[in-house]
Amino acid sequence: MSRSDSGSTQSDRASDRASDRASDPAAPADIHYDPYDYEIDFDPHPTWRRMRDEAPLYRNEEFDFWALSRFQDVLEASLDDRRFSSAYGTVLELMTDEPGVMPMMIFQDRPKHTQMRKLVSRAFSPRRIRALEPKIRDIARGYLDAQVGSGGFDYLEDFGAKLPVMVISTMLGVPDEDREEIRHWTDQLLHRDEGETDTTRHEEIGAKLSEYFAEYVKSRRRAPRDDMMSELIAAEIELEDGSTRRLADHELLAFISLLSGAGNETVARLLGWTATTLAACPGEREKLVRDPSKIPNAVEELLRFEAPSPVQARRLTGEVTLHGETLPPGSKVLLLTGSAGRDEREYPDADRFDVDRAIDRHVSLGFGTHFCLGASLARMEGRVAIEETLKRFPTWEVVWDQTERVHTSTVRGYAKVPITLP
Ligand code: HEM
Repeated sequence: MSRSDSGSTQSDRASDRASDRASDPAAPADIHYDPYDYEIDFDPHPTWRRMRDEAPLYRNEEFDFWALSRFQDVLEASLDDRRFSSAYGTVLELMTDEPGVMPMMIFQDRPKHTQMRKLVSRAFSPRRIRALEPKIRDIARGYLDAQVGSGGFDYLEDFGAKLPVMVISTMLGVPDEDREEIRHWTDQLLHRDEGETDTTRHEEIGAKLSEYFAEYVKSRRRAPRDDMMSELIAAEIELEDGSTRRLADHELLAFISLLSGAGNETVARLLGWTATTLAACPGEREKLVRDPSKIPNAVEELLRFEAPSPVQARRLTGEVTLHGETLPPGSKVLLLTGSAGRDEREYPDADRFDVDRAIDRHVSLGFGTHFCLGASLARMEGRVAIEETLKRFPTWEVVWDQTERVHTSTVRGYAKVPITLP
């Protein structure tokens, strides 16, 4: 996003122009969508718009994938989890040929997914999440109070990237002194250099994190406390035959790395988009300052407008016909949730950021079986972060030429957002 395009008020409706040129599944030769290309990632919206209008089933031969970019298609594929499988992985370059290789539930299908999801959902009960709000507010206040009178700071490095790690570490009960290192490893794990498809470096960092948490799980088995990990260790999975069992260490570890992977980077990106989008749309920011009850809706609008996790991959378990083309079993299909949020067929004037927009639904937190387990936590973090920011800093400017992006194939957004305060 640049200063000129964020929150733009373009109102030309692609749906009026082009919608049904789109039934030809063959991608026009000049549409090029490469999820690893930094330039496209910087502002994918023009490309995604052309895909929605002209190639709603897009084919990329080089990386051997298909892509769905329209809201309705992404929604239906997310709901059709028997044919659009997650069990081969949901990150394009990490997809496997066999199902079930990766133990995390985000990479599993029913019935295994259901068992895990039922069990770990307890750790995300409304009661547990509500109880976190005062802690989240305290953490946010601590970081933001330190910047009052400072003249400016990096909204992500000094605040937005730290908040979610501290929140998850608090949930898990990780000791204070280890949290910064865990954040650093998590960042490294998700960073991908331009064109990098070799995964060795990531495996090494992943191993360090696993080692740390293996020790941590052992310590909780020895001495349970009142925290999420101790609850998960004690909880029982109900199997299909009615018997029960407890989670093995490798399943607990997979869940921890899923939480830190899924919950840290995504919330940090949401907060980066918050700082940049509100600065680019000062009128919308002013509405939130005047009436903070609009903030929860603003969080939904931010998620729709710049999806922090804009691409979810699936693999077909059977033949699927889409836009007149029959795809064989095994095909890799990218669900472009980030494009779905800008689909003019679902959202009038989709390129306009509007904190008052009536949003009935969006797919930026997924949809269906794999709907984000941390959704209520993410929404709360977003709301509390915006409330506490605006109380102290009702206006700010972004130093655009010093912003930096994160480059991964799972999240999209900023790594650095330096801001100046009046
Ligand atoms: C703004 C922040 C967030 C965004 C944009 C986001 C986005 C998503 C999306 C799109 C999915 C679906 C993936 C798919 O369909 O393959 C998902 C799943 C998931 N998310 Fe989030 N997420 C966020 C925050 C969190 C947080 C804070 C946590 C936990 C602490 C979390 C934990 C999970 C888990 C465990 C899943 C897998 C659910 C399953 O497979 O049943 N997420 N998230």
